[in-house]
Amino acid sequence: MTSQEMESITNVMEFEAVAREKLPKMVYDYYASGAEDQWTLQENRNAFSRILFRPRILVDVSNVDMTTTILGFKVSMPIMVAPTAMQKMAHPAGELATATAASAAGTIMTLSSWATSSVEEVASTGPGTRFFQLYVYRDRNIVRQLVRRAEKAGFKAIALTVDTPRLGRREADIKNRFALPAHLTLKNFAGLDLGTVDRTNDSGLASYVADQVDRSLNWKDVKWLQTITTLPILVKGVLTAEDASLAVQAGAAGIIVSNHGARQLDYVPATIMALEEVVRAAQGRVPVFLDGGIRRGTDVFKALALGASGVFVGRPVVFALAAHGEAGVRKMLKMLHEELELTMALSGCRSIKEITRAHITAPWDAPHVLPRL
Ligand code: FNR
Repeated sequence: MTSQEMESITNVMEFEAVAREKLPKMVYDYYASGAEDQWTLQENRNAFSRILFRPRILVDVSNVDMTTTILGFKVSMPIMVAPTAMQKMAHPAGELATATAASAAGTIMTLSSWATSSVEEVASTGPGTRFFQLYVYRDRNIVRQLVRRAEKAGFKAIALTVDTPRLGRREADIKNRFALPAHLTLKNFAGLDLGTVDRTNDSGLASYVADQVDRSLNWKDVKWLQTITTLPILVKGVLTAEDASLAVQAGAAGIIVSNHGARQLDYVPATIMALEEVVRAAQGRVPVFLDGGIRRGTDVFKALALGASGVFVGRPVVFALAAHGEAGVRKMLKMLHEELELTMALSGCRSIKEITRAHITAPWDAPHVLPRL
């Protein structure tokens, strides 16, 4: 993609078509797919369109401040980078480009356990606040080592993914016999002989997960994780009030409402539909974040109005990376920044704190019927 072509891109969604043209089918399908019928995949987007604004007028919006803090770290906007695996399939610079783009945008990148760049390589790109996403392997020595390496490399939090005891059934990956291209490795595991995702009769990744990921993972392990690290732990993959309460009890520093970009259990609700019950259950004890289907500044605003402290984007990162490398990811983050700023101005909000539940209306809100006089 030339820079001229990139200039013609006017929203985050448009990167996907460019990525689809550029990428091998196996790679595009891996990035784009959801599980089974992909009902939740569509719903992650559709649900946003049922939430509408109640904009306030005649507020002086000549200055809109979008800065906020996430676990005490200052960011330029409440929009962060979700962990997505194997970014070097999208672009040779992979996670290194994403890390640079996220720091340039003044926001946080979450590095996947299954990155094609190591925690040390990502740290070497320069300063920036970064979180590390953790998959818990059956071999706990591997987990201990990896967490220690992430700490040492300056990562500031662990996002513990809890929705993947087994891999969701992504039929395109099964059809394509998905495997990690031979010139790439899951760099964090390369020294442990666990860096390849080989071709099997299934999705190669599903086979890898079945072999290596600990399906016995449970709430006790959230406590165990706190014995091996002092980093704050975000529990990623909460969709119910019950689990939100348990996460707080287990000592989580935050909750990420996520359905893994609709790649795990199909027919779970859109994350924006689950957000409010989780926020209520958290009772302000820990911050609640959301990912899934965020493509517009208006989506971000709606999540914040429903109580999220920030959001993460997944697919927009890999598609922008595929389209134009680091510059693509920078542009994607810039567009979301600008759209959120405009949404705030047009809703009469001058700061993140000023965004309230009263700025939106959701289908589940009680109707306010007043008698006609
Ligand atoms: C993911 N996601 C993910 N999550 C995680 O905890 N570890 C991982 O390695 C990955 N890898 C991954 C790869 C790809 C290609 C996608 C699309 C997603 C899930 C991710 O963190 C996030 O929850 C979703 O991507 C958010 O939804 P959107 O923004 O993609 O709609």
